[in-house]
Amino acid sequence: MTTYAEDGFALPPSTEIEKLINPKTKAIMLCNPGNPTGTVYSKEELFRVAEICKQHGLYLISDEVYREFIYDGMSHTSVLEVPGFEDHAIMVDSVSKRYSACGARIGCIVSRNKALMEATLKFAQARLCPPTVDQLAANACVYLPDSYFAEMVTEYQSRRDLVFDAISRIDGVVCKKPEGAFYIVAKLPIADAEDFVIWLLNDFNIDNETVMAAPAEGFYATPGLGKNELRLAYILNKEDLSKAMNIFSRGLAEYIKLKGI
Ligand SMILES: Cc1ncc(COP(=O)(O)O)c(C=O)c1O
Repeated sequence: MTTYAEDGFALPPSTEIEKLINPKTKAIMLCNPGNPTGTVYSKEELFRVAEICKQHGLYLISDEVYREFIYDGMSHTSVLEVPGFEDHAIMVDSVSKRYSACGARIGCIVSRNKALMEATLKFAQARLCPPTVDQLAANACVYLPDSYFAEMVTEYQSRRDLVFDAISRIDGVVCKKPEGAFYIVAKLPIADAEDFVIWLLNDFNIDNETVMAAPAEGFYATPGLGKNELRLAYILNKEDLSKAMNIFSRGLAEYIKLKGI
């Protein structure tokens, strides 16, 4: 279902979602908070989608790997919290975001639906298991104190603010402040974001440094959408981020001049 930068990639009305359900539909999938949008769905929004699933007998698969990365005092609602929805709720999780363990191959799905979990176990047993070292490291991470998350959220919120402030100062950019994960999708006043990224990497630098961002087009299911949008990830420390945003803003200004936009 297409969502838009103009309204922070908010969920469409239920009637619009229901129009896309057909006899082949088995599940609705949400990413909450979202990659690439950083959008967080409120309890009301999540319950609204769960209600649609209940009415149409669908599973709701909720990817919640960023669920600790929630800002501005908001809270996260898991699909597992929806009452009376136990047989339909499937939560997807991973250790790689919350423990900054990018590359760790440890994830899981959680559901109270016994038949579904039994089928999942069969699939799991048909494959090799996740790497032993990763399992041991993930197990150790689980014992980190809550203060680890409090510090992490404070740090990431200030990184988000830095990047959002910098991107909002650029004329013609469309971008709402995201409330979660560590990404921002911005619509830029150019025709082709991928061409801009390639140009930044090949032809632009300040003191021999440049920046890399992900063209958002690849995240859309509909061909042609998101062509002038970019996903920025704010995973660097603030000093480097600040430098990166300066390079990005100056690069964009120069690119716009070069293209005569
Ligand atoms: C929304 C979402 N789900 C799942 C994953 C997969 O995590 P991993 O393969 O690191 O466990 C990612 C990684 O980028 C993600 O963004």
